Amino acid sequence: MIKYLKHLMVSFCLLIITIVKADEGMWLPQLLAQLNEKQMKSMGMKISAGDIYSINKGSLKDAIVSFGGFCTGEIISSKGLVLTNHHCGFGSIQDHTTLDNNYIRDGFWARNNGEEIPNKNLFVTFIIRIDDVSKKVLAGVNNAMSESERQSAIDKNIAAIRKETKQESYQENFIRPFFEGNQYFLFVTETYRDVRLVGAPPSSIGNFGKDTDNWIWPRHTGDFSMFRIYAGKDNKPAAYSPENVPYKPKKALSISLDGVAEKDFTMVFGFPGRTMQYLHSSAVDQTVRVNDPVKIAIRDKALAVIDGFMRKDETIKIQYASKYAGISNSWKKWQGEVLGLTKTNAVAKKKAYEAEFQKRVNNNTALKSIYGTLLDDLASAYNELEPLGRSRDYFNEVFSKIELFAIIGQLNRIAAAEGGNNYTTTLDRAKESLEDRYKEYNAAVDEMLFATLMEMFYEDQKDQNLPTVFTDLVKKEDNNFSKLAKHIYENSDLDNGEKILKALNNNPKELLEHYKKEKITELYQALVNNYSNNVAKKLNVIQGQIDQLQRTYMQAQMDVFKEKKFYPDANSTMRVTYGNVKGYTPRDGVKYDFYTYLDGVIEKYKPGDYEFDVPEKIRTLYNNKDFGQYGTKGKMPVCFIAMNHTTGGNSGSPALDAYGNLVGLNFDRAWEGTMSDINYDPSICRNIMVDIRYVLFIVDKYAGAGHLVKEMNLVHPKKK
Ligand code: ARG
Ligand code: GLU
Repeated sequence: MIKYLKHLMVSFCLLIITIVKADEGMWLPQLLAQLNEKQMKSMGMKISAGDIYSINKGSLKDAIVSFGGFCTGEIISSKGLVLTNHHCGFGSIQDHTTLDNNYIRDGFWARNNGEEIPNKNLFVTFIIRIDDVSKKVLAGVNNAMSESERQSAIDKNIAAIRKETKQESYQENFIRPFFEGNQYFLFVTETYRDVRLVGAPPSSIGNFGKDTDNWIWPRHTGDFSMFRIYAGKDNKPAAYSPENVPYKPKKALSISLDGVAEKDFTMVFGFPGRTMQYLHSSAVDQTVRVNDPVKIAIRDKALAVIDGFMRKDETIKIQYASKYAGISNSWKKWQGEVLGLTKTNAVAKKKAYEAEFQKRVNNNTALKSIYGTLLDDLASAYNELEPLGRSRDYFNEVFSKIELFAIIGQLNRIAAAEGGNNYTTTLDRAKESLEDRYKEYNAAVDEMLFATLMEMFYEDQKDQNLPTVFTDLVKKEDNNFSKLAKHIYENSDLDNGEKILKALNNNPKELLEHYKKEKITELYQALVNNYSNNVAKKLNVIQGQIDQLQRTYMQAQMDVFKEKKFYPDANSTMRVTYGNVKGYTPRDGVKYDFYTYLDGVIEKYKPGDYEFDVPEKIRTLYNNKDFGQYGTKGKMPVCFIAMNHTTGGNSGSPALDAYGNLVGLNFDRAWEGTMSDINYDPSICRNIMVDIRYVLFIVDKYAGAGHLVKEMNLVHPKKK
């Protein structure tokens, strides 16, 4: 009996490992036919893999763009109208916002093409085709090579392949590693650089709930904005020109007004940034125990400082809005990640997986000879990494929050280019970026950040031979970091943007002489050198070993678990993920529904509140139940969730129904499941989308921009 039970348990465990959880995975669009189509159809999909990705005919992929390289967007009209998130378009919205024209607060709607606003550095990229070039990239590469020999062989191959790739003159290409460098794919792309702002709701809709609701379900945010792609008269990419015309796309998404029901098939198409699904358990353990907590603690303090100023001063609020949102976004995500990894026993699960791996390896002589000690090697490498990784996180987090350090870094780059061929370009670029930086800079905020974070840095790292420039300064100011900060900022010119930018224009040489003599520059240099000598050097060596071991481990997992379907970690390339609409249970006794309605917006409404105010017009529309064709059964849907495996970069991605119609706009994940970057778990991992009907309701009924809806193709797939 026991023997039988044991056997049963073993096959049960195997089953868990064998079956690919239906919803996990960020799949390559060109491999769907081979790997996923059958399963997608069994989950409800009504179209074919060829309708999603094809190089011979217009397919859904032709309606999807990488938005600015950091988000996703999709084409929703035959005139090149692009839909993305409010938080993706936010940089542009902020750029055009002034105290008089406050597009962040009030929203913006172009009434015609002439009113659409150009954006200097914004671009969108289409993927024309994706080719597997692994064999060519890895030609001549062998295990006897050192990492740097390997890399230079690969770089040479890549350069040759890129050069000989057949493409049109206006197209570009790049090659990226997949499966930690075991495979390589080539992407041929078209990038349009004239992308204009068409519309955005006020942030009380587009960012309703702000940081309190960020990463949270149930959610009530209308997180969208609209842009338009402009092209040359030949419809090809062209630099900005008033002569450019709206782009005519190969494919525009149709929009379903029928919404989704529980269990409906959905898929999300976009550009997920980075995941780490194939790590060793030690890495996951360190994330939970060391790295996330360090970063969270530093950001706790930084956020408190900035928030204090933003609440008191409208100008600082506009200046720091973007920075604050960015710092807070990951801060909150990491907290959810720690919670989720702990709750789902991610480390124990990885260990069980590793035990099964080791068992299979040990039972197979061939595998044993290559992978026999792999797990032990990984464990000891990660062990060595731990203290260095902690110092790295400390250094990066603190340094990146203090603007004066970033400004010095920028000036250093100019100084380094002095006398060289690239001096003028470097100077011009640095000027532009410093201009932007000073626009979002306030000396009082930065001084307080310096005082707070440098104190933390000092207290935490003081046993690890800090440079004497720093320790002497601290001693001189009697360990009083406010005094220290005051002293430094009072005696520095670098916090005076006007003066620095003027000097850069008039007499850069003199400025480059001068800033080097400042106390803060001396301190910066000492800390950077100290970090580089005591941490970075060792860290790079060990990180190099880990990268190599993880690459081997990736291949090993594919060799050992032959029955398993593998998808590559996200790397900002185009992916498809699919899953059904479904609620979840975040904790005992609580069950979340999969839909929210405008009723919830009104429930959360706090008059005049920074996060939960609701525009009067929305309240009136709600009271009159004036939802036009967008409401359903007397209610206005707002957001919904599903089991799609998404990550940062999937913001702005379309959520498509079984027919490929647009039903929602992806913008977030549920907090309890943010560990899906490391360990997807179907019980709590959910992506959050705004219902496309809410988007159209806001455009049409709220903003009175019905002319945009007229450009779109609205359909009723459920009423066929
Ligand atoms: N959490 C979402 C993402 O990772 C939305 C962030 C923007 N919203 C905000 N309130 N900060 O990007
Ligand atoms: N808001 C995220 C983004 O900017 C998407 C949410 C996520 O990380 O899943 O891409």
